[in-house]
Amino acid sequence: MPEQTEMPAHYGDLNSVQTTWREMLQSAVSERTHPFKKPVLTTIGLNGAPKARIIILRDVDFEARSIRLHTDARSAKISEIGRNPNVMLAFYDSTHEIQIQMSGVAIVHKHDAYADAAWRGAPPPSRRAYLAEREPGMPLSGPASGLPADVEGKIPSEERLETGRSNFAAVQMVFEQVDWLFLSPSGNRRARFEWRADRWAGTWLAP
Ligand SMILES: Cc1cc2nc3c(=O)[nH]c(=O)nc-3n(C[C@H](O)[C@H](O)[C@H](O)COP(=O)(O)O)c2cc1C
Repeated sequence: MPEQTEMPAHYGDLNSVQTTWREMLQSAVSERTHPFKKPVLTTIGLNGAPKARIIILRDVDFEARSIRLHTDARSAKISEIGRNPNVMLAFYDSTHEIQIQMSGVAIVHKHDAYADAAWRGAPPPSRRAYLAEREPGMPLSGPASGLPADVEGKIPSEERLETGRSNFAAVQMVFEQVDWLFLSPSGNRRARFEWRADRWAGTWLAP
């Protein structure tokens, strides 16, 4: 018989499950290599079919139950959220065999205090992306970054970076449900947390 390894506290305790996904999200905000740093964002496409892509987790605010993401205001996801704000974020930690699926509603911020603060907090290499001349997803005549020649391969001055500000959007995803899945040879565990007006209500689910 293989030796039984010690199970994590969340294996049999819903409160610990909730503490764990909160800690994982919080850690991923500041740790560049954290497995939860790059979740998959799913939107409903303009034709009704799902659209999914990787996006960087920028911030989490448990008081506001929200996650902040950054993107190009001209990208397809912005029109998709405008049509249907229901979105999902899926995270996976392959070391600990933990998946979380968060669902909620996205709010797009372009020219308000929320977007301004996000823009000011973004490092120059991230802000450079918003200088791209063509909208993300537009056909090009050949392989290219889409960046103007004067900023290609270099970090532009603050003044030059500001010219990309109008292409920047901060997406605030307000989450209402969190699904948890932990894979274990001893038996998987699944749980769901739903926001009920003023508190999270958790329940175990069949995995
Ligand atoms: C590791 C990684 C990180 C990414 N981070 C972001 C990001 O933070 N924001 C973003 O808009 N796109 C990011 N992308 C690109 C998106 O996956 C996607 O290609 C792009 O946003 C266009 O999506 P859309 O046309 O569906 O709107 C990232 C891609 C990868 C592979």
